[in-house]
Amino acid sequence: MRPGAGSPDPPKRRSWAEPFRIKVVEPVHVPTADQRRHAIEKAGYNTFLLRSEDVYIDLLTDSGTSAMSDSQWAGMMLGDEAYAGSRNFFHLEDAVHKYYGYRFVVPTHQGRGAENLLSKILIQPGDVVPGNMYFTTTRLHQELAGGRFVDVIVDEAHDPASTHPFKGNVDLDKLEATIRHYGAQRIPYVCIAGTVNMAGGQPISLANLQAVRAVTQAHGIRLILDATRLAENAFFIQHREERYQHYSIAAIVREMCALSDGCTMSAKKDSLANIGGFLAVNDENVFEEARNLVVVYEGLHTYGGMAGRDMEAVARGIGESMQDEHIRARVGQVLYLGQKLIDWGVPVVQPVGGHGVFLDARAFLPHVPQQQYPAQTLAAALYLDSGVRTMERGAVSAGRNRDTGAEYLPKLELVRITIPRRVYTQAHMDVVAESVYFVHEKREEIRGLRMTYEPRYLRFFQARFEPL
Ligand code: F0G
Repeated sequence: MRPGAGSPDPPKRRSWAEPFRIKVVEPVHVPTADQRRHAIEKAGYNTFLLRSEDVYIDLLTDSGTSAMSDSQWAGMMLGDEAYAGSRNFFHLEDAVHKYYGYRFVVPTHQGRGAENLLSKILIQPGDVVPGNMYFTTTRLHQELAGGRFVDVIVDEAHDPASTHPFKGNVDLDKLEATIRHYGAQRIPYVCIAGTVNMAGGQPISLANLQAVRAVTQAHGIRLILDATRLAENAFFIQHREERYQHYSIAAIVREMCALSDGCTMSAKKDSLANIGGFLAVNDENVFEEARNLVVVYEGLHTYGGMAGRDMEAVARGIGESMQDEHIRARVGQVLYLGQKLIDWGVPVVQPVGGHGVFLDARAFLPHVPQQQYPAQTLAAALYLDSGVRTMERGAVSAGRNRDTGAEYLPKLELVRITIPRRVYTQAHMDVVAESVYFVHEKREEIRGLRMTYEPRYLRFFQARFEPL
């Protein structure tokens, strides 16, 4: 029972709350059951194709959907929209130097812009890039540059029920075997993500990252971080790795970056901005190449596809993202939702991750075979129940093998309930948990989907389905 609802029990612990108060609100509309049915049909049962105005609580993604602070909004008014040498670029550069510690920064419009530059610069046709599970855009850029991704994450990452505290860790034997098999000269870099998105927002430990660094250094292979959710990863290190319990989030992030040669970054996540990203590296030659190429794909090297005001919002957001109280409330809200669902017997990926709660769609809908897209089906069912929008992260997202054309059928068939930062309240989380609970209660009535339209690249964004 919630405090204030007549609970007879005195509290056993002290609660904490978000380290902010709300100054501006954005009204949302609750669509009726009829409107929801009409909207999801029109969207081909793909939550990506819903109109935002047909959504009640939007948990599609935490990307670019977070609430900016008053300081970030004030910074927007200080945008220096000069084509070259905007002062906001130098603020961004300063923030990256201070918090991530890399020597050189190239701004990009978002994370995939940085992935494109990095892949084009470092990958030769026939190369392989080992990583702790794939991410959709990261892998595609590696492939478009002629490379191939090799998954070296620990086996526990593929098991939704495993409660391993660091399911984002690299299996060092797999990494060594990959290096032996292909040879270090075919491996331009190892790509390591903080809180692995596709595994359910699972962290890598600092001890494991140090071990990966030792292996890659011994073979002269670069280590590149996907720093998109590194601050959130740092929270789990602070709480689960005893050695670092007295380190600040900012100090842990610096430690992680110091073990790498550079990073790609989507500033739309950790950094609390609506758009933006960067590539940061220590190697001056790679920087020179990136500074040349960014002009072709993004814009001049002092804006890279962002307006000056956006660079200011990112620069200020980086500092806010490293504050311990912010991260505790951010991840704490995700854990609150996850714990509720666990307590109610709903199958979710455990431990609960940093940016969302991931439903295990195979366990949720055991009667729907993976070829009928149980996660896609479940995301549509949740929307129909309550107007809550979530995202498929299973067979549809995994796509097809580029050589054989066969569909990948990943072990993880998940629905991601992704929480934007600083946007929704605990009451919203209760509404979401209750919707998941009621859909779970009537799960046996739910039938699978058939794909009626399949785009060639990143099909999950625009594919269409119909019920079987
Ligand atoms: N890396 C990770 C781990 C991501 O989660 C994303 C984006 C990117 C790179 C690409 O960044 O979108 O700025 O181009 N993830 C979004 C999501 C799309 O919903 O998880 P981007």
